[in-house]
Amino acid sequence: MVGLRAPLSSEVEETLDPKDWEDVRALSHLLVNESIDYLRDIRQRPVWQEMPAGVKGAFGGSLPRSPTPLVDVYRQVTENLMPYPMGNIHPRFWSWFMGSSNFTGALADFLAAVLGSNLGGGNHAAALMDNQVVNWCKEMIGFPSSASGTLVSGGSMANLIAHVIARNVNAGVDVREDGVGAIKKPLRFYASDQVHSCHRKAVEALGLGNKALRRITTDAELRIDVGALRAAIAQDRNAGFEPACVIATAGTVNTGAIDDLEALANLAAEESLWFHVDGCIGALLAIAPANAYRVRGIERAQSVALDPHKWLHAPFEVGCILIRDASAHRGAFTVTQEYLESTPRGLASAAWLHEYGLQTTRGFRALKVWMSLQEHGVEKFGRLIDQNIAQARYLTTLIDQQPFLELVAPTSINIVCFRYRSPGLEDGARKALNIEIMLQLQEKGIAALSDTTVHGEHCLRVAITNHRTQREDLDMLVAEMLRLGASLKP
Ligand SMILES: Cc1ncc(COP(=O)(O)O)c(C=O)c1O
Repeated sequence: MVGLRAPLSSEVEETLDPKDWEDVRALSHLLVNESIDYLRDIRQRPVWQEMPAGVKGAFGGSLPRSPTPLVDVYRQVTENLMPYPMGNIHPRFWSWFMGSSNFTGALADFLAAVLGSNLGGGNHAAALMDNQVVNWCKEMIGFPSSASGTLVSGGSMANLIAHVIARNVNAGVDVREDGVGAIKKPLRFYASDQVHSCHRKAVEALGLGNKALRRITTDAELRIDVGALRAAIAQDRNAGFEPACVIATAGTVNTGAIDDLEALANLAAEESLWFHVDGCIGALLAIAPANAYRVRGIERAQSVALDPHKWLHAPFEVGCILIRDASAHRGAFTVTQEYLESTPRGLASAAWLHEYGLQTTRGFRALKVWMSLQEHGVEKFGRLIDQNIAQARYLTTLIDQQPFLELVAPTSINIVCFRYRSPGLEDGARKALNIEIMLQLQEKGIAALSDTTVHGEHCLRVAITNHRTQREDLDMLVAEMLRLGASLKP
């Protein structure tokens, strides 16, 4: 430290560190204690509740210009934020498709922030752990260790990254240099009409346009019609398009249907197309002993998107994309800038992780996955997936036994599509009745379901991606639906 200038006594050098570490220690202990109580007592609280006007108003305050003691800041959080969660950590939350988080993951997110490391890359321990978690993801789905991958914000980003690579590999021109305008024949991607909306956003963002994503019809089980897909590819070739990528969905968001992965892998190979699996819902079935058979063939894909913040219950956000051809992956994103050159030793002597995706700075997402997998072991996560699927089957049986409830789609994995039926009600009135039941279940804090339309039929939808759900919660759901349905029907 020779030669450093001592600060002049008139200069005040500031920091964000607390003046008194003991104060912050006491508050941190309180925060952790209250967080543990919060999770321990989750079942006693409503799944969801509407915020009073005063609470909503509290979030309209202007930019704070002067300091507030941290203890008072934390009180604002406990009063205005913590009582009004989305609800997906509650045992009776089954809307859309979300994991239910876990406390170890929360501790990990705290530690990741304390460590503060940037996972853009570099020679430090967090980068090695990031790599290790990607390797574990490969192992979980039976992907080769030579494949590459990266942790991203979630499934949408994972699918986008795969589509960038599929586009570049099949464009027939240097898209990175010359852009999509240089592509001679318009590219076509194929998926079922049940494909998740993030694929549309991806092809639009890639400059290919929504029409580049051809939606293929589905069968009665909501799986892609492979014959119709084959015909569409032939038709497009004849019409001067360039078929580029087949997207299989392993677990559709509407019903959990799983496309025939083996058949699609064969077809993609015959047609020399990129074979991508959107496994955001179902790729992790591969670790579930009773259900792994459903995703046989996933290991043949060129790319797989999966979502640890769904069935591994990692706190948001963490998704993962795996790419069989590591050089194609790097080829899509590598940029060596003068300020990011590698050095033979030291901090910049390891591979840059930002060369596998769009972000430069990356958060330390791996730790929450790493700690939970270490704590419980992967087999427990597999059993929890089997448990959710068995619970969905149980709910399906309950529905089958009730004359006032009916299934609207076959239950494939953990998603149950059903509705309250009241003989004589026409479609519009039945839809309105079911939406009212769903809203009252939410507003009374009983359960959170969502709704959708499957092959033209409106229904309510229960997706059990929840390690806290028990069968008695499903008994309660059926009882409450029958009670509400009887009281609300016209
Ligand atoms: C099949 C499928 N793909 C992609 C996504 C998008 O994932 P994320 O919400 O993690 O971005 C979802 C979300 O539920 C999904 O169900």
